Order: sequence, then C-alpha cells, then structure tokens
Amino acid sequence: MNLKSPPRHIAIVMDGNGRWAKERGWIRIKGHEQGAQSVQECLTACLEVGVEYLTLYAFSSENWKRPQLEVQGLMLLLEQYLGNKIEEMNRNGIRFSAIGRLEELPRSVQQCLHKAIAATAHNKKLTLTLALNYGSRNEIVDAVKVIAQKVAHGTLDPKSINEELISEHLYTAGMPDPDLFIRTSGEYRISNFLLWQLSYSEITITPKLWPDFKKEDLLAAIEEYTSRERRFGGVQ
Ligand code: FPP
Repeated sequence: MNLKSPPRHIAIVMDGNGRWAKERGWIRIKGHEQGAQSVQECLTACLEVGVEYLTLYAFSSENWKRPQLEVQGLMLLLEQYLGNKIEEMNRNGIRFSAIGRLEELPRSVQQCLHKAIAATAHNKKLTLTLALNYGSRNEIVDAVKVIAQKVAHGTLDPKSINEELISEHLYTAGMPDPDLFIRTSGEYRISNFLLWQLSYSEITITPKLWPDFKKEDLLAAIEEYTSRERRFGGVQ
C-alpha cells in the first residue's frame, strides 16, 4: 500500500484477549499469546506504510488486580517476546521503547526491557513503545512532581509552564502525539491511556478481538484514517 500521508503515530488499546480465549474454552493467557502475534502483524503493516511510532497498551497500572497466574503469565510472555525479537527488530529498523512506572515491574522484566531498549536504540524506521504498568493519570502526576521540584529549586519559572513544557515532562517526551487511536473488542473507552496525548487523535473502534486483529485490519484502519479531514478545532 502506498499512502501519501499515513499517520505518524498510532496508539492501540489491545482489548479482547480474554474473551478470545474464553470463546475457545482456553485459559486467558492463551489469548495474550495469540495477541502477541497480532503485535507482529501490526509491526509489519506499520513498516509497510511508513508509520513512525506504534504505541501499545500492554499492561495498565490497574492490571495488577488480575489473577496472579495471569499477571505472571503476561510478565513471562513479555520476557520471552523481548528475548526473541531483538534480532528481528534490528533487521527491520525497529527501536524498542517502554513507558510507565517501569521500576515497579519484576526485576527480570526490567532487565529484558533495558536490554531491548539498548540493543535497538540506533534504529530509525519505527519506534515500538509498550505501555507497561502504565496509567495516564500516574504519568501526569509524575510530570507535575518534576515540574514542581524544578520550580521549588528555582530552575523553572512558573510563567514558562505551557503545553509544550508539560508534554516534555510526560513519559512520551520527544514523540509526536498519536494521530490515530485504535481500540479493539468494541469497547468505547480510553481506559486511562495517553489522556493528554490523545487530545486531537482520530478514533477507530473495531469489534474485532485483539487476537483476530491482523495486518489487513490495521491497513484498513490506516486507509480509512487518511480519508478523514482533520481540523484541530479550526474550519476548512
Ligand atoms: C486486554 O485484553 C489485554 C491485555 C491486558 C494485555 C495485552 C497484552 C498482549 C496483547 C500480549 C503481550 C504483548 C507483547 C508485545 C508480548 P483483556 O485480557 O482485558 O481481554 P478481555 O477484555 O476480553 O478480558
């Protein structure tokens, strides 16, 4: 597919793994495993059309409330994914990144994350960011704390606090805001994901469960996005 102006940044809430597994009488983690395949499909689509940033909600700050077995399974899946995919990411020019309160994740996961981040830091085509132990309100709290400290230490003039400065203190500093937000499994919620950054994003909700969301589905969503008229509050 050759598109004139594809979205630079796509953010996805990958929802429906549990339902997908339940429909088959399988344990929930099977849905997450299949969901990791959908991640691969989306990376292929992004590389094909030249999307520069793909940000995926992989584990929210609320997901710790899930059964211990599922949380452990997700952490293990993540470690396996990062362990297996570094070479492929380097081959495809994918830079890996992670956002969230990463310091609260199991130490072994943190080690895998840091290894993948360092090993792919030089890649330039596509930045894959996983939101892990992520909550948008936490992100804003963390940003406000740093900004307040700078003001208290006299290194920041409160008068210079503007939208740009706040963006620069979020975990996503340096990334453009998402152009396209996608949520699977037909739920009409943002669920504490990138609240600040999604202000002007186009939204696509698909009834497909995440494990069923394939390369063609992302390409179709991107194509539909390119036909929309974005006004950013102005007129056209
Ligand atoms: C939401 O579906 C999904 C999650 C909380 C986890 C998302 C994780 C993956 C797709 C796999 C890990 C990713 C990588 C890159 C290895 P849900 O479980 O809430 O589904 P439900 O609403 O049907 O219960």
